[in-house]
Amino acid sequence: MNTVYSSIKGLGFYVPDNIVTNDDLTQYMDTSDAWIQERTGIKQRRYFTYGKDTNASMGAAASRMALDRAGLEPSAVDLIVYATITPDYYFPGSAFLMQRELGLEGIGVIDIRNQCSGFVYALSIADQFIKTGMYKTVLVVGSEIQSSFLNKSNEGRGVAVIFGDGAGAAVLQATTDPEHRILSTHLHADGRYAEDLYVRDPGSSREGQWISEATLADGQYNVTMNGNTVFKHAVVRFMEVINESLTANGYQPEDLSLLVPHQANIRISGYVQQQMNLPDEKVFNNIQQYGNTTAASIPIALTEAFEQGRIKPGDLVCLAAFGSGFTWASALIKW
Ligand code: UT7
Repeated sequence: MNTVYSSIKGLGFYVPDNIVTNDDLTQYMDTSDAWIQERTGIKQRRYFTYGKDTNASMGAAASRMALDRAGLEPSAVDLIVYATITPDYYFPGSAFLMQRELGLEGIGVIDIRNQCSGFVYALSIADQFIKTGMYKTVLVVGSEIQSSFLNKSNEGRGVAVIFGDGAGAAVLQATTDPEHRILSTHLHADGRYAEDLYVRDPGSSREGQWISEATLADGQYNVTMNGNTVFKHAVVRFMEVINESLTANGYQPEDLSLLVPHQANIRISGYVQQQMNLPDEKVFNNIQQYGNTTAASIPIALTEAFEQGRIKPGDLVCLAAFGSGFTWASALIKW
């Protein structure tokens, strides 16, 4: 019997129309285009339009594009794995809402909450389900509406300027071709740093009701981040998890065709690129246009890289992520 692997058959993304430039943010907080570009590389990001975009509708738009490019009808999908930390409802997750929107009632859906590594975790789960033979076609989605979670005042400026909204999707299918497939995925987490990047409320372990006057007054329903700590861990873990994927498959950094890192900060990608001695054409960055879109950032970047002809059959592509949790993960793909 031939070994079953999974391969990426189609990619898609959706970003809201509403472009928010760095200059636009100066209306709400004391910041500047120069500061944001120098510290993060970001020039602009997208914010969702209330009444038009939902987390699930953005995921559905990205999924339709990915399915279309794979030459598949939505009915071909056996399972949805959906990564987000900004769901439309507290529960059920946005996977259910997107399933409904795509008319796929009845198939299994899984919601993943693994922050900036969410898409790579979701991809890994899809890959395992395909390799066991349980499913043939799995839709993997990352979608975020973060603009409504941010404190867009001076107090929140260290966090608010980096995040944006958007969605990306990949269609995975079973293959027996060992030359074009996901080679391996690598997942890690360290909960000791949970509070270095988190949204505390609403949470269940509170005195009385989980949303009270006290929690509202505290303002802990916005993102809180210890940016320097996150940055220091990110540069180390990105390198580790990329090298782990290469070593596991007998490759060296110079064998990479393209690294698609989670778009956290251009300085993080730049440091990793320099340490791994990779030329510019081997590292994909689009944080300039979209900011950090958490679980959506890798599938948006991967789709744009593909559209721009930066990925060709036979290429060795590495996806790598680091984020809140802490969590970090990679996937090595022979395209
Ligand atoms: O997706 C994965 C999770 N997130 C990340 O990977 C983010 C990792 N961290 C970072 O990218 C960086 O820490 C930030 C971009 C968030 C911040 O950059 P930084 O170089 O670490 O700046 P800082 O927080 O140390 O702040 C430096 C200065 C401070 O002023 P003082 O104390 O030196 O006078 C801040 O008050 O910059 C000030 N500042 C700002 N100034 C203008 C902070 N935010 C802003 C702002 N505009 N938006």
